[in-house]
Amino acid sequence: MTTEDRAGIRDYYDRLGAAEYDRLTTDPAGRVSYEVHRRFLTRALRPGDRVLEIGAGPGRFTELLADLGAHVVVTDLSPGQLAAHRDRLGDHPAIERRELLDVCDTGRYEDSEFDLVLAYGGPLSYAFESDVDALRGLLRIVAPGRPVLASVMSALGTWRHSLPGVLRLAESIGEQANDLVLRTGDLRHVPGAAHVCRMYRSAELAPWIERAGGRLVAVSASHWAGLADPAVLEPVEADPERWASFLDQEERACAEPGAWDGGTHLLFAAVAA
Ligand SMILES: C[S@@+](CC[C@H](N)C(=O)[O-])C[C@H]1O[C@@H](n2cnc3c(N)ncnc32)[C@H](O)[C@@H]1O
Repeated sequence: MTTEDRAGIRDYYDRLGAAEYDRLTTDPAGRVSYEVHRRFLTRALRPGDRVLEIGAGPGRFTELLADLGAHVVVTDLSPGQLAAHRDRLGDHPAIERRELLDVCDTGRYEDSEFDLVLAYGGPLSYAFESDVDALRGLLRIVAPGRPVLASVMSALGTWRHSLPGVLRLAESIGEQANDLVLRTGDLRHVPGAAHVCRMYRSAELAPWIERAGGRLVAVSASHWAGLADPAVLEPVEADPERWASFLDQEERACAEPGAWDGGTHLLFAAVAA
C-alpha cells in the first residue's frame, strides 16, 4: 500500500476518535458480534497472559482482556485512537504501556515475547499486499503453540449485509469497478473512497496463514442470524432467557463452515506451524 493510503487510514481513525468505542453496542447486530468475539477470545486466553493488542482503538477489547486477567501492551496506528484509549482507561493496572504500531511493522518485539496476539476489528484488513508478511510478524512474536487471534472484514457477508450501498456504488462507479471490488474485496478499487480496506473470503484464510508460516486452528463468523433486521431481534434481546439461548445458538452456528462468510467479519485463530 502507498504511504498516502496508510496516512488516509490513520486520519480516518484519528477523526473517528472515541466514537469508534460504540461500534459494537449501538444495535443488536453489534452486540451479537461483540459476544461472538468475546467468547472466541475467552476460549483462547489464560489468566495472567501477556497480550499484544493491535489496533486497540478506544479499548473495547482491552477492557475485556483486563477483566479476564491479562496484561496488555496496547497499540494502534492512530494517535487519535490511542488518545481516546487513554481518556477511557487511563493508567489501568492491566495496561503495561501504549504505543503507536503499524501491524506490518512488529520487528521491535522479541521472538515469542507474547502469550497471545489480538488483532480484532480489522487491523489486518489494512495490510493489503503486506498481509502475509504482517501475519508472519505476528506469528513470530507469539509463544510456541499460543495463538494469534484476529478478525478481518468479510467480503461476502458485507456484500449481502450492505446490498443497498453496494448497488448504489455500482451505479456511481460502474459495474466493472464494482465487480472488481466484489471479486477482490479491495476497496481501493473505489475511486475517491473515504475509507479503504481489504475484505476476505473464508476460503482465503488457510492459504494466507500457511504462506505466513502458520496453521489455522479455529474460524468463526461474527454473525449468522444476528445480522437480521433489528426490529426482529429487539424483542428477543428484551427477554434475557431468549437472548441467552439466541447467543448460544449464534455462537455454534458461526463456528460452522457453512456460516463462516455470513457475518460482517471473519474471526480466526492461527498458531505458528
Ligand atoms: C474498527 S477499529 C477496531 C478497534 C478495536 N480493536 C475494536 O474491535 O473495537 C480498527 C482499528 O485498527 C487500527 N488500524 C488501522 N490500520 C492499522 C494498521 N495498519 N496497524 C495497526 N492498527 C491499525 C485503527 O486505527 C483502528 O483503531
